[in-house]
Amino acid sequence: MASLSSYVDFSQPSLWLSIASILFNPTFWNIAARSEYHNKTLTRLAGGNALYGCYALAATIFCLGLVRDAIYERALRFQPAHPALLGFVPQALAAGLVVSGNVLVLTSMWALGITGTYLGDYFGILMDEIVTGFPFNVTGSPMYWGSTMSFAGTAIWFGKPAGLVLTFVVFAAYSVALRFEDPFTAEIYAKREREQKAGSKKAK
Ligand SMILES: *[C@@H]1O[C@H](CO)[C@@H](O)[C@H](O)[C@H]1NC(C)=O
Repeated sequence: MASLSSYVDFSQPSLWLSIASILFNPTFWNIAARSEYHNKTLTRLAGGNALYGCYALAATIFCLGLVRDAIYERALRFQPAHPALLGFVPQALAAGLVVSGNVLVLTSMWALGITGTYLGDYFGILMDEIVTGFPFNVTGSPMYWGSTMSFAGTAIWFGKPAGLVLTFVVFAAYSVALRFEDPFTAEIYAKREREQKAGSKKAK
């Protein structure tokens, strides 16, 4: 059995650039969002308007995602293909992964809106209620799973084992990000609930 290194060319700088951009994105938006939450950094940069601040962050994250995807596809070009990943069955699997991944991402954005998708909670722009319908009845984090599936599908589509290694980096980066984000947003909503309860007691 051939080792991983004969199907993944670790000497390609483009591979490492792709790893760096995959790790950079969630790191960047978590630092930016927390800085906003604690110091209103982005709202201040947007002239005191939280909504504009959130839109600016959304546009930045979206563009960073496009850059990351472009770097990823470019990195795959410099990598060897594996014959087992070429052929009808892998191609069909690849197409299925990319399509269902995009369905998860797009329906999630549709359900949450721009501020709900792009960390609006950190700006004090909270959702009225937790969204529980599709795709959130399939997975709690459809953006992350959908994105990971698209990476995997692209890797298989081009028959590149290196793409699967990068997909694992995506998965790991999102898993770490979720460990920071989920408890933090849960606390933001719990705080609102406590304040609402206190408010309704006062009203009585
Ligand atoms: C999720 O909800 C959609 C409609 O809102 C439904 O069609 C689908 O079967 C549900 N899926 C699961 C796994 O419950």
